[in-house]
Amino acid sequence: MSNIQMVDLKSQYLKIKTQIDREVLDTISSTKYINGPKVHEFSSNLSKYLGCKHVIPCANGTDALQIALMSCNLKPGDEVICPSFTYVATAEVVALLGLKPVMADVDENTFNMCVEHIEPLITSKTKAIVPVHLFGQSTNMEEILILAKKHDLFVIEDNAQAIGSNYKFSNGEIKKTGTIGHIGTTSFFPSKNLGCYGDGGAMFTNDDNLAEKMKMIANHGQNKRYYHKVTGCNSRLDSIQAAILNVKLKYLDQYNSNREKMAKTYDIGFGDVEHLSIPFRSPNSTHVFHQYTLKTSTDYRDKLIKYLTEKEIPAMIYYPVPLYRQEAFSSYVPENFSLDNIEKLCNSVFSLPIHSEKENSQQEKIIEAVRSFFNSI
Ligand SMILES: Cc1ncc(COP(=O)(O)O)c(C=O)c1O
Repeated sequence: MSNIQMVDLKSQYLKIKTQIDREVLDTISSTKYINGPKVHEFSSNLSKYLGCKHVIPCANGTDALQIALMSCNLKPGDEVICPSFTYVATAEVVALLGLKPVMADVDENTFNMCVEHIEPLITSKTKAIVPVHLFGQSTNMEEILILAKKHDLFVIEDNAQAIGSNYKFSNGEIKKTGTIGHIGTTSFFPSKNLGCYGDGGAMFTNDDNLAEKMKMIANHGQNKRYYHKVTGCNSRLDSIQAAILNVKLKYLDQYNSNREKMAKTYDIGFGDVEHLSIPFRSPNSTHVFHQYTLKTSTDYRDKLIKYLTEKEIPAMIYYPVPLYRQEAFSSYVPENFSLDNIEKLCNSVFSLPIHSEKENSQQEKIIEAVRSFFNSI
């Protein structure tokens, strides 16, 4: 049995090696390294896949969030509500732009921010909401859209962890996550469900004006060469990464369904274990399992991770510290600020290996180890 890793990128690459290697070599010999045809091809393929009018590629998922916010004409001091149980990038870009990140709690089961967490935080300065579809499952977007419309707020979906996930509205309409709000953003970091072999990201929108603005901002604020309309940045997806993503996009649904199969096997393996909660499935979203995240008590969790590490089984805590407790955000919250659900989650969650290349013997070993730990307490 090979070493168990959180994500098995090597096996995934070997299965598509011939196509990837050919695409990469073709791109190198084309010499169209920046904004070449591969980038346009990928953006058009992803746009078809998502059913979204505009896909604007950029350098990474953090830039995607930053550019999305920059396109909304916000003023310094404007408030942006985001969950405090997420990867730092979500709130970091808000602060970086001189805006105020307003830290919201999340639901204990879905790990996502809901209207009941957002609504009490809305003030006259609130201009945008950034829901994060954490670990691969959609936030309740229908309710968020209604709330946003009522208060005239931008909705920017941070879809870095949920690409390919489907959200179902109460009227039966289905949309891909990231295409529901005004703008959606994603990351193509290698371990993401759709990952490249370096850094990459993209913004999605159905709004022509926002698309135009984001394209311009990502390109030094120019829409005509050497004529700079606004202050922008330099954020590009390079052609080699686009060529790789073009190949991998064809497999995204397969990758996501492999992750879901692995998740189901874990669910069966852990469903009857006392002191352990398997991931909750939202009725209105499919789950693409960027992470398979369970809950237990803090004491058990720390001992379990030690026990697994001794058996060479990796387990990670996403996320051990709420954003509001990070030094970087201390000026945005009062001293001793705390949110009940996030406090509980940071003390109880842990994630097990999940990826597109399930190897039965490895997964059996993980399940057996976790079960034997809980049987012994
Ligand atoms: C929820 C979320 N948002 C944003 C990002 C940032 O993406 P990148 O690392 O490509 O900048 C990540 C990446 O881990 C993420 O998980």
